[in-house]
Amino acid sequence: MSFLTIERLTKTYDQIVAVGGISLDIEQGEFISLLGPSGCGKTTTLQMIAGFVEVTSGRIVLEGRDLAEVPPAKRGLGMVFQSYALFPHMTVAQNVGFGLEMRKVGRAERDRKVAAALQLVGLSAMADRYPRRMSGGQQQRVALARALVIEPSLLLLDEPLSNLDAKLRDEMQGELRDIQERTGLTTILVTHDQSEAMALSDRVVVMNRGVIEQVGPPEAAYQTPSSHFVASFLGRTNTLDGVRAGETVTVRDQRWTVAGEGTGAGAAGPIVVAVRPERVSFGAGGLRGVVRKRVFQGSQWFFDVESEAGQVFVLAPNGSGALPATGETVGLVWSAEDMRVLARDEAAPR
Ligand SMILES: Nc1ncnc2c1ncn2[C@@H]1O[C@H](COP(=O)(O)OP(=O)(O)OP(=O)(O)O)[C@@H](O)[C@H]1O
Ligand SMILES: [Mg+2]
Repeated sequence: MSFLTIERLTKTYDQIVAVGGISLDIEQGEFISLLGPSGCGKTTTLQMIAGFVEVTSGRIVLEGRDLAEVPPAKRGLGMVFQSYALFPHMTVAQNVGFGLEMRKVGRAERDRKVAAALQLVGLSAMADRYPRRMSGGQQQRVALARALVIEPSLLLLDEPLSNLDAKLRDEMQGELRDIQERTGLTTILVTHDQSEAMALSDRVVVMNRGVIEQVGPPEAAYQTPSSHFVASFLGRTNTLDGVRAGETVTVRDQRWTVAGEGTGAGAAGPIVVAVRPERVSFGAGGLRGVVRKRVFQGSQWFFDVESEAGQVFVLAPNGSGALPATGETVGLVWSAEDMRVLARDEAAPR
C-alpha cells in the first residue's frame, strides 16, 4: 500500500467532468506535481484530497485510512493557495500560530512550534510584522510556515508561486525544494508551469481534460513523452506530420527506422514525429529549410527554421562551431533515437 492512493477518482458537475477517473500512487517523501493546462482538473483533484470538494466516485486512501468519512480539519493536511489568505489583522507569528490555537495547543508549545516554522522559511526576524508590510514572497513564506506548523502528513500546494515575479519565483522554488527535502514531507504541487514542475518534482503527473496523460520523473516525461499532448506541453518541441509503414517513418523524403517502445513506434493511425530543438543539428542532407530567425540566448543559440515540413526550432550550444546565418539554406538532421513517433492529436498545443 502506498502512502497515498488515489483510485478512479471522479468529480462531475452536472454535465461537466472535472476529473474523469484518475488513479495514482504516491510514496512517502515524494514531491509530486500535477501539471496541465487551465481547466484540466488539477485544483479539483487537490481539493478532493483536502476534503473541500466532495468526491463523485472513487477513493482516496492516506496511510491506510480511507478519507471518505474524514472531515477536512481531521485529515492532517497543510495547504497553501495562490492567494496567501493571511489574516491582515494578525502578525506573522499570530497567523502561523492560528492553526495550533484552533487545535488547543498550549502557549509554550505553540511559541516553540511557530518559532521553528518561521526559522524553516527564513522569517524569524519578521515574527511581529503585519502581512501588508511584507513583499509577496515573504507573505507566501508566511503561508507556507502556517501550513508546516501543524506538522502535516501531506502538504498540498495550489499554484503557490504564480503571483510572484519571475526572479522571486525562481528563489522560492529553490527554497520550497530545500524545505521539502529537509522535512521529508510528502508534497503535491499543482501548477500549470511546466518548467516549475520539472525543476521541483520527483515525478510529474501530466493531466489533460480531467485525465492523467503520463506519470513519471521529469526527464522521462520530457525525453519519452507518451502522447502528442505531453510532448507539446512539456518544454518546447517540434512536431512534424509523418507517415508510418511498419518500422519505417517518413517525413517528406526523410526516412527513419523505428523499433520498440523507446521511439513510440506503437502509435497507430496518423502520426507526428516529435523531436526536441536541442536534438536537431545542422548538416548536409536532412530536411531542407531556411533560417528565418536566430537569437543569441547566452549559453545557446535559438533558430527558427522554415522547413519543407513546417516550422522547426533548433537549439545549438554556444561554442558549437560555425552556425548558419539568417536567410541561409540548411539541412536539419536527427537520428531515430532523438525522436518520438506519436499518434497525432489535433488538440495538442502547438
Ligand atoms: N464549482 C464548479 N462548478 C462547475 N464546474 C466546475 C467547478 N469547479 C471546477 N469546475 C470545472 O471543472 C474543470 C476543472 O477545474 P479545475 O479548477 O480543477 O481546473 P484547473 O486544472 O485547476 O485549472 P486552472 O489551471 O485554471 O486553475 C473546469 O472545466 C472547471 O470549469
Ligand atoms: Mg486550479
